[in-house]
Amino acid sequence: MRNEIKRTLIEAAHRARAQSVAPYSRFAVGAALLTGDGSIVTGANVESASYGLTCCAERVALFKALTDGARDFQAVAVVARSPDGPTPCGACRQLLAEYAPAAVVWVADSDRLSIVREFSVRELLPEAFTEAALRATTRGRGANPSKSNSGSKGPQKVRRRPGRD
Ligand code: THU
Repeated sequence: MRNEIKRTLIEAAHRARAQSVAPYSRFAVGAALLTGDGSIVTGANVESASYGLTCCAERVALFKALTDGARDFQAVAVVARSPDGPTPCGACRQLLAEYAPAAVVWVADSDRLSIVREFSVRELLPEAFTEAALRATTRGRGANPSKSNSGSKGPQKVRRRPGRD
């Protein structure tokens, strides 16, 4: 069952890779997210002539999914022509740590889809900076008066992070 999901997600990422818009690097990447309700949202990298504006496949998929209302991501697959599969860049690791902390990360080389490496988001980005840190630093100081978590309501509860699987 888990292997079937893995294969389905890797294949979805592989298909998404075909939609990559990467005229500068010519490095096409596809990503596929498995949402909490079992649907799949895909994305591919999009590059800009102003190189720094490039958005990775993982973030395209994540932004699509989040703005469609999806949450509780279970897994993300990433496929590119890269030996052993492409591990997500640092920026994508940060976004995954914030919005898909419990997701298993599967990566594969587009030429060898049957060989899949697996990671947890936590092992890709240990000690991630998250909203919990923001709440801890602003607690009780009224840092942003427009937000209700400043001051009078006492310590904020840190939402429990679900574990893997
Ligand atoms: N890229 C991704 O889409 N995902 C990654 O995890 C690493 C890099 C893209 C960004 C850029 O379009 C190209 O690959 C080369 O860096």
